[in-house]
Amino acid sequence: MGLREGAVEGLGLDRSIWSGRRVLLTGHTGFKGGWLALWLATLGAEVTGFSRSPSTAPSLFELGRVGDDVRTVEGDVRDFESVRRAVDAASPDVVLHLAAQPLVRLSYEEPVATYDINVMGTANVLEAARLAASPLQSVVVVTSDKCYLNPERDKPFVEGDPLGGHDPYSSSKAGAELVSAAYRDSYEMPIATGRAGNVIGGGDFSPDRLVPDAMRAVAAGEPLRVRNPDAIRPWQHVLCSLHGYLLLAQRAERGPWNFGPDVDEARPVRWVAERLGVEWKSDPGDHPHEAHFLKLDSTKAHTQLGWSPRWDLERGLDATAEWYAAHREGRDVRQVLLGQIEAYGGS
Ligand SMILES: NC(=O)c1ccc[n+]([C@@H]2O[C@H](COP(=O)([O-])OP(=O)(O)OC[C@H]3O[C@@H](n4cnc5c(N)ncnc54)[C@H](O)[C@@H]3O)[C@@H](O)[C@H]2O)c1
Repeated sequence: MGLREGAVEGLGLDRSIWSGRRVLLTGHTGFKGGWLALWLATLGAEVTGFSRSPSTAPSLFELGRVGDDVRTVEGDVRDFESVRRAVDAASPDVVLHLAAQPLVRLSYEEPVATYDINVMGTANVLEAARLAASPLQSVVVVTSDKCYLNPERDKPFVEGDPLGGHDPYSSSKAGAELVSAAYRDSYEMPIATGRAGNVIGGGDFSPDRLVPDAMRAVAAGEPLRVRNPDAIRPWQHVLCSLHGYLLLAQRAERGPWNFGPDVDEARPVRWVAERLGVEWKSDPGDHPHEAHFLKLDSTKAHTQLGWSPRWDLERGLDATAEWYAAHREGRDVRQVLLGQIEAYGGS
């Protein structure tokens, strides 16, 4: 399932490093993890996925036949012994930790479970990595742009800004950052954290996210109900942030890294809905607080990692629309996904 010559080298990814490399990927039954699992497989990595079973139906895991290329271990990151067994069995060179409770609104309803999964789950993964029989070459923990203390000012966040988070999800990601920093510094482990913003792409079926909500509204023939049409988010295609995580792992980087779109590409929710061609209406109801202004400064990733988003928002939205159209038409979306990974490397 390799990619054509040149499709990854232009991204700074080295097939000879990834080929045969043992990777433990948590969260591979989810949206970002499904894309990353298949990208790793195209690079020749031997991937073991550790996750709970897919939480949506349909799911990218099923539709993309992710299980064909990844050895799946079903388990819960809250259960240290099962994480440890998975690490022992996979004997990984690299750990990519994406498993999480990733939804802000659900975190208001289930704050303790959110902290348990996102903070203690991260501690369990890092502890199992610390105790691994052979030392790991790299660990990448995926957190979020929401990990920052957000005074809603008109200034993009840099990695040195204070951590915070108003809601349980955001503060749990700040907690995951603190746990990662402590393991990195106390045990000299090669741990990097990736802080990306909202991503879009085919295969996301989660509740309470703009693109899946828009696709469900289209299927139901109803207008999309938008909570905060003027909220500005640093949208980018899922492949942009995954590219960043892969570079961090390949280069065994340490510390926090922002991966956002170019600063003038942050757009209001209404703009994205209109660009997707979806009819929408405002749903002002009584909604929990959500931060209105989130912009990331990714200068560190640009200058030190050679990373930049290869697709702008328009290109990312086109790819997303293409994927969901293929799904509606009953086409093989795994092939669409693999084609988009290849196109991303070639663009
Ligand atoms: N999607 C975004 O816009 C976005 C933005 C910033 C950061 N992130 C982060 O990226 C990561 C992946 O997000 P996603 O959008 O793919 O979410 P998702 O809900 O699609 O996938 C979450 C994955 O975590 C697994 N998981 C959840 N709880 C678990 C548990 N207790 N034990 C084991 N596995 C568990 C699920 O089974 C699934 O595989 C998360 O860490 C999320 O916080 C996502």
